[in-house]
Amino acid sequence: MKALSVNSINTGYERREIELSGWIDSIRDHGGVMFADLRNRSGKIQLVFDASNKGGDYSGAVAALRAEFVVRVKGTVSKRPEDAVNKKIPTGEVELKVMSFEILNEALPLPFYPGEKVGDEAALKYRFLDLRGPDMMSNLEAVDRIMRITREYFAQLGFWDVPTPMLTKSTPEGARDYLVPSRTKAGSFFALPQSPQLFKQVLMASGVERYYQITRCFRDEDLRADRQPEFTQIDMEMSFASSTDIMETVWDLVEKIFAAFDHKLPQALFMKFEEAMASYGSDKPDLSLNIGLLSDITEIFRKSEFKVFSSSVEKGNKIAAFLCAGDFSRKELDDAVEDAKKLGAGGLVWIKKSGDELKSPVVKIFSDEEKNALRKKFPGDGVIFAGSTGDSFCLMGELRKIFALRRGMKKEGFFPVWVVEAPLFEKNAQGRLQAVHHPFTAPIGDIFADDPRSLKSHSYDLVINGEEIGGGSVRIHKAREQIKVFEIMGISEAEYREKFGFLLDALSYGCPPHGGFALGMERLAVKLLGLDSIRDVIAFPKTQNAFCPLTHAPDVVSERQLRELGLKLADE
Ligand code: AMO
Repeated sequence: MKALSVNSINTGYERREIELSGWIDSIRDHGGVMFADLRNRSGKIQLVFDASNKGGDYSGAVAALRAEFVVRVKGTVSKRPEDAVNKKIPTGEVELKVMSFEILNEALPLPFYPGEKVGDEAALKYRFLDLRGPDMMSNLEAVDRIMRITREYFAQLGFWDVPTPMLTKSTPEGARDYLVPSRTKAGSFFALPQSPQLFKQVLMASGVERYYQITRCFRDEDLRADRQPEFTQIDMEMSFASSTDIMETVWDLVEKIFAAFDHKLPQALFMKFEEAMASYGSDKPDLSLNIGLLSDITEIFRKSEFKVFSSSVEKGNKIAAFLCAGDFSRKELDDAVEDAKKLGAGGLVWIKKSGDELKSPVVKIFSDEEKNALRKKFPGDGVIFAGSTGDSFCLMGELRKIFALRRGMKKEGFFPVWVVEAPLFEKNAQGRLQAVHHPFTAPIGDIFADDPRSLKSHSYDLVINGEEIGGGSVRIHKAREQIKVFEIMGISEAEYREKFGFLLDALSYGCPPHGGFALGMERLAVKLLGLDSIRDVIAFPKTQNAFCPLTHAPDVVSERQLRELGLKLADE
């Protein structure tokens, strides 16, 4: 039976007798006549309890009604008097004259009202009240809509939904694993999947050809507004597909999802990783920021009398700079220098530029040639900011973002971009090469012949307004190449056989070329709905410390459970 949607009740229902169930949202006693709002997930309508209503003898039960009592009401829809129309709600022209009602359950005095803004701990402890608020309800509905569109989309294209294990082995997505001790193999542990990466590749080797899944992933990493220990991926993999095929397939879905929320996305741009780093200092370029791009001014100051720059360049550092249009007061400039210091820079150079005029405490040290080169690099007016540290582009990219946001230099709308061809490897803190994406990403070039440090990869990340919504790649589908990648990363044969032997087997017995992608469902929803944190689209999120105030998980377990698992806690 389909329930009547409250918000659809309008003057067309006048004089009809209907039955509704829901919560008492608010009560207003007007002496003899009592008004209350009935709320359920489909909307809100005014109830009128009046002894003169047909059958309106409620035997005092009305007086017992309190906020958040659960009720079933029967009544007649009637038009509100002209002066009582409420234009703010869809049912504002009507009300329900209650003939009879039943209290299905009572509610204790509330710690807060649904929809009220309260602290995190309270909101998550009483999440059921928090979720009852109209914003959270509508967020949950939005997530359901995204999932439904996704399922229909992939089904239509012949993708199969194949569930993959939750109790599994570690997948190297770069975070710590959540471990689950095994009872039947004492001393051994399952890992909860950081992603279905390896299973979806094995499914391609198995001949599934087109796979998708909306699945939970688990990563034990430091939490931020865009990260939860448990989140949802819209995960897919395709055999015999090029990166273009995969990007197009993902893009069509993303467009459809945005369209379902009345947003028309502009065509996504394509940007090479190298360009993103050079112009934005980040592999997540925010194209909505209306501020000058980064420029490399290392060569201008290589031999400069201005030693701050030339000695930094001598150490092998670069100098990155950008022009911010508009004027900066002295205080704003001092703040800017402080911002740079907080980000780890020794200092920050600023030069006010108006036409050909350059003004700054350091500009007198610059040669005419240096000044001319600066004028040429930055033809506009404003303030040029320049910095040089170990990673000048990242630092100046961050500063650029801070200034743009602080000064409201942000364009409205969505600015999607595919960041493609990331390097295959980067150096880690120990000086070893590690995969920039994951080690299953296919190289562009010859892994056996080319210098691994120069190789790019068949990778593509989808970034919207500076946020990575998803990532994927064409994979290595030949065992020999996969082994070579492990070797370059300094992983011993014993280790890669132990960790990835099953993948190498799958690649060894006729695995088709394949590639795929995973969208972060919550990040996508948050962008779409213009929210701040992915917690707003997760029914039961964890706090900053990965704790659930509702259930109190994680929690201690009994001695007996530990014994059964062959575990002993280390003494404090
Ligand atoms: P990746 O690690 O880039 O790729 O993850 C894909 C997307 O998942 C989202 N995401 C998260 N969302 C919320 N909380 C988190 N802790 C979190 N971590 C990641 C992001 C990210 O872009 N197996 C590969 C995909 C592939 O190559 O097909 C993978 O997991 O939106």
